[in-house]
Amino acid sequence: MLRPLLRYGADVLHTPARPVGEITPQIDQLITDMTETMYAAPGIGLAAPQIGVPLRIFVVDLSIGRDPSGLIVMVNPEFVERDGMQLEEEGCLSVPGFNATVVRPKRAVVKGLDRHGHPQQIEGTDLLARAFQHEMDHLDGTLFVDRLRGIKREMIVRKIRKLSKAGKW
Ligand code: NI
Repeated sequence: MLRPLLRYGADVLHTPARPVGEITPQIDQLITDMTETMYAAPGIGLAAPQIGVPLRIFVVDLSIGRDPSGLIVMVNPEFVERDGMQLEEEGCLSVPGFNATVVRPKRAVVKGLDRHGHPQQIEGTDLLARAFQHEMDHLDGTLFVDRLRGIKREMIVRKIRKLSKAGKW
């Protein structure tokens, strides 16, 4: 089932999410909904808070569903290692219409549970490392806009505020 995507300003997006206790059928359905919503957007990553669920789950698929083995589901993820640095343009389904260059690690290793509750550890470089860091940020209540400095950040926040007031956000 497709779920509505929340946007910058919704409380759940700015609040750290809680760990998942147990992978119940409801959690499994949530993961299915997250995946479908990500593909429909379309996007390469989605975190549970983006559909209003304050739990530590994210999905990433750099192929956006084209490669059946491309889907990564991470429950209660943690960083194992992060190193290097990359600077690329980034956007977010919760901040539609805005992009900015964000500093991210070049390489990130994340461990957590898969959707069956089995431990897994995945190494990402370049775009995958960026996606991991972006989604992990969501679980901590941080959006890419919060990672920006100075005028660029203020410009985006001001435009969002204006859109909100006009009922267009
Ligand atoms: Ni995002």
